[in-house]
This record gives sequence, C-alpha cells and structure tokens, in this order.
Amino acid sequence: MSDGLEGVIAADTVLSEVDGEAGRLVIRGRSLDDLSGHARFEEVAVLLFDGFFENLPDQAAFDAALGAARVQVFEQTRALDSVLNALSPIEAVRALMARLPDGDDLPTALRLLAAPAVFAPAVIRAGQGLAPIAPDAGLTQAADMLRMTKGHTPTPAEAGALDAYLVTVCDHGLNASTFAARVVASTRAGLTSAALAGISALKGPLHGGAPGPIIEMLDQIGRPDQARAWIEAALDRGERLMGFGHRIYRVRDPRADALKRAVRILGEESGALPGRLAFAEAVEQAALDILKARKPDRSLQTNVEFYTALLLESLAFPADAFTCVFATGRMAGWIAHAREQVAGGRLIRPQSRYVGPEPRIAA
Ligand code: ACO
Repeated sequence: MSDGLEGVIAADTVLSEVDGEAGRLVIRGRSLDDLSGHARFEEVAVLLFDGFFENLPDQAAFDAALGAARVQVFEQTRALDSVLNALSPIEAVRALMARLPDGDDLPTALRLLAAPAVFAPAVIRAGQGLAPIAPDAGLTQAADMLRMTKGHTPTPAEAGALDAYLVTVCDHGLNASTFAARVVASTRAGLTSAALAGISALKGPLHGGAPGPIIEMLDQIGRPDQARAWIEAALDRGERLMGFGHRIYRVRDPRADALKRAVRILGEESGALPGRLAFAEAVEQAALDILKARKPDRSLQTNVEFYTALLLESLAFPADAFTCVFATGRMAGWIAHAREQVAGGRLIRPQSRYVGPEPRIAA
C-alpha cells in the first residue's frame, strides 16, 4: 500500500502534467509560462473545456455566456443570512454553491465557473456589513470579481494580476481536490456535486487553505531579522511552515515564480509593495535555509501558496477569503476533470485492507 497514494497513477488525463523533478507544469500542451500573465482566465477555461462539451462556443460567445452566468447566479446571494454569514468565507461560498442545480451540460458548467467569482465578493462584503454588488456581464471574470469585491472598477494592472493568478491555479494534475471531484464525478452524481467535493477538499490547510495563515506568519514575524528565530520556534513546536513543501515537486513549484512575477508587475505599476515583497523574500530564504538544514533528505521548496498570499493581499482580498479566490481559478480544472472522468473513466472504487479485530466466535 502507498501511504497517501503517493506515486499511484489513478487517471490518464489530457488536461495537465505536473513534472515534479523538472519543476514544470503543462496545461493542455501549453507551458505555464506561456499562459500565466498572457492568457485570460476565460481563454484557459475554453482550453480546458475543449472536447468535453458539445457545441462549446467560440471565445467571444463563451465570454458573454460566462458573464450572463454571473448575473444568473447572483440571485443566490439573497440566501446570505446570519447563519451563512457566521461561517468562514469558504464555507459560506460552498453553502451558496450547494443551492445550484446538478447537471452535466455546459449551462451547469458555466454557472459553476461563475459561482465563486460572484459568491466570494458577496460573502466578503457581507462580512464588512456591506450589500453585494451585482455583476457586470461585460467585464472579464477577473475584473468583475475585483469590482464586486471592492465596489469600483479595478485598474488594468489589478485585473491583469488576478487573471494571472486564476490562470496559474486553474489546473494541477491529480491534486487532492481534483481527485475528490473525479471520485464524485465517477458516480455520475453531476458537476455541481463534483465541484462541491473539490471545494471541500481544497479548504484544508494542507491544500488550498494555506495562504491565509501565511499572512499571519508574515505579520507575526514582522521584521526580516526576526524570521529565523520565529521559524525555528514554529518548527520546534512541531508546526509546518505554510507555503513550503509539496507532494510532487522536488524542486521549486513553477507557480511560485509565476505569481512572484505577477506580484512584482503589480507593485511596479501601482508604485506599492516593494518593501513587502523584499520582506517576504527574506522570510522565504530563511525558511528554505532552515528546512534544508532540518530535513536534508526531503527537498522542501516554496510552493504556490507563498506568493499567492502576497498577490491576493496586494489585491486587498481579506486573508480569510484567499481560498475562495483559489476555488475561483481551480473550478475550471474541477469541471474539466469531472467531464473527462465521466467520458472515459469507470467508477472509482479502490479497496481497503482490514486491519481490525476478527469477529468473536459465538460460544
Ligand atoms: N514545514 C515543515 N515540515 C514539512 C513541511 C513544511 N511545510 N512540509 C513537509 N514537511 C516535513 C514533514 O513534517 C515530514 O517530516 P517527517 O518525515 O519527519 O514526518 C516530511 O517533510 C514529509 O512530509 P509529508 O507530509 O510526507 O509530505 P507530503 O508530500 O505528504 O505533504 C504537503 C505535502 C501537505 C504540501 C506538506 O509539504 C505541507 O504540509 N506543507 C505545508 C502546507 C502547504 O503549504 N500546503 C499547500 C500545498 S500546495 C497546494 O496544495 C495548492
């Protein structure tokens, strides 16, 4: 048995390849560097969906249909009440998503793709005592999500930075949330059920829940010269450093550099951030040095979450809602994987080995 299914190949996919030795991510034949910062989220969604839906429209019609889907799902934000507002943002977004009907067709997929981009801003604003802002179907999903969160149209640099983020995290092989989505899809439960499984797996701190605590770590460290002592103390307490380590990558996660680039570009264009970026780089270097000294046999490198935290912070998303933004990007991958599983895969049903006691023999 392989602990945590490490090394087990559980699906053939045409969607993405994660090469952990080379530190390379390929999405449908395109390298991450070719896509991140160059393609819009809508374009990558079409790239992922191609071949998995009948009559997938051309790009312009897809963009319009996704905008219309945002307007459609906005109705659900009326269900935000004191019960949902008491939940964490990712739990509230998941609860709103659970109100969407199940199905396997393109309209279902578009509603799901639109859902976190609309629900997350509404939940964030509700937490600030503000009313939700209705979508603008004519904007890109990234620009509209920022607009619905902040209440004003973002600058092109801000919208470009969020687009780069959504594209960077859109798909990543058989990660835990995508595997969960494929297991549910394999039962033919429908896309909404598969996406709900994905979002539930994503919220854990070992997967997509890591970036919020990274901001807490940076805030607690406070100054570059305090990084080493803080990190040593955290590891002495048996804690894990959020934003470091990965099941597949033995070298640096290529998404970390894509996002660091996006942070730098945003900082240059807005005139903000250089101090925060330099501080984060100092913390990163201290963490890498200490992890290398403590775990010489296990290559623990920076993962996607470290610069996710910095980028989403600089876009003014609250740290407790970072996972909702992650779900907005990864939704494209969950949907495509669910469709691929249904198209070619059998019911996923592995076996367990019983290691419990034998039944007592009746006297
Ligand atoms: N900080 C400190 N020690 C670590 C870290 C870390 N971030 N990551 C792994 N280790 C240590 C483990 O304690 C373990 O040590 P041990 O063998 O002495 O017990 C060893 O490295 C191997 O760890 P595993 O848990 O077997 O590695 P696995 O491949 O299962 O875990 C994971 C990968 C969950 C990402 C892990 O590195 C981790 O917990 N990182 C912190 C959380 C994080 O950043 N998650 C986001 C990942 S990216 C994503 O999902 C989008």
